[in-house]
Amino acid sequence: MKKLTFSNGDEMPILGLGTWKSEPGQVYEAVKTAIELGYRHIDCAAIYGNEKEIGQALQDVIASGLVQRSDLWITSKLWNSAHRFEKVEEALHQTLLDLQLDYLDLYLIHWPVVLKESVVYPKTADDFLPLTEMPLTDTWRAMLAMKDLGIIKHAGVSNFNKPKIENLISVTGRLPEMNQVEMHPYLQQPELVSYCHDKNIHMTAYSPLGSNDRPSRYKDLGPVLLEDEVVVNIAKSKGVTPAQILIAFAIHRNISVIPKSVNPKRLAENLQAAQVQLTAAEMEQLKKLDTGTRYIDGSIWTIEGSPYTKEELWNGSN
Ligand code: A2P
Repeated sequence: MKKLTFSNGDEMPILGLGTWKSEPGQVYEAVKTAIELGYRHIDCAAIYGNEKEIGQALQDVIASGLVQRSDLWITSKLWNSAHRFEKVEEALHQTLLDLQLDYLDLYLIHWPVVLKESVVYPKTADDFLPLTEMPLTDTWRAMLAMKDLGIIKHAGVSNFNKPKIENLISVTGRLPEMNQVEMHPYLQQPELVSYCHDKNIHMTAYSPLGSNDRPSRYKDLGPVLLEDEVVVNIAKSKGVTPAQILIAFAIHRNISVIPKSVNPKRLAENLQAAQVQLTAAEMEQLKKLDTGTRYIDGSIWTIEGSPYTKEELWNGSN
């Protein structure tokens, strides 16, 4: 499988398993099956509420001798209520405890949004802290401190735009090594991809299949990607599935991709997508599907009275 290489030579398998929306009761089997099938990259986050089960699966596959810790690439993410400098280490330790690991391969700031420490998801405007009070650069400094201690091998961000990344770099002089954002043929983000790739910042595509199991608040946002006529027709002509085309599309752009599944057949199907070759003509057809449709539009952060607006979130520079 193709790998993305970091500046110190570390290699991340380009295709990983997504675990957002994988229920605690299902994720243990999903992760175990995935690793048995050959997945070596698992994408996690504290807020997914399933890191304990994932940790047990990792522990069991390592104890069985199937893989060693060093064979795996494990990513996790810092939640929005742990942005304070001192809180970052605490949150990271909890994640490591849950995942039963002593280091992460990659740790990301999950969102450029800050919640008060007692809040998990915001219900009112009072649950937020504005970035002027808790700047992302302070959180970034804490992430870098964790990297310097070796507790995380690589540090990065998620859901960041170009100006927010520029701000981190200009204040701290150090680049994030990854930016994980929603990406698929309907949301290709070519400018963000060129910017990141020019700076040697790797990218990961979340919701690459369009996240049909996304929370109901995001349900009305756009057509079903897996049923897109162009995607379906390319899949038919090659004797593969629409999901495999979507996964191969990201890989052909040198973008890591983390389709989520808890179904053994689909886990295998998704892994096999790493072998699917798309022609330049097929890539061109897929490139034309870009409508800028965001399924995960961040509306949860922009409720009435919130210091965050959609404009600030996706285009702002704080
Ligand atoms: P399931 O977990 O039952 O397989 P995304 O990765 O974009 O968030 O999409 C995840 C959604 O896509 C889940 O509903 C998942 O269901 C479904 N899914 C995963 N793999 C496939 C596949 N190969 N074909 C169709 N649907 C899939």
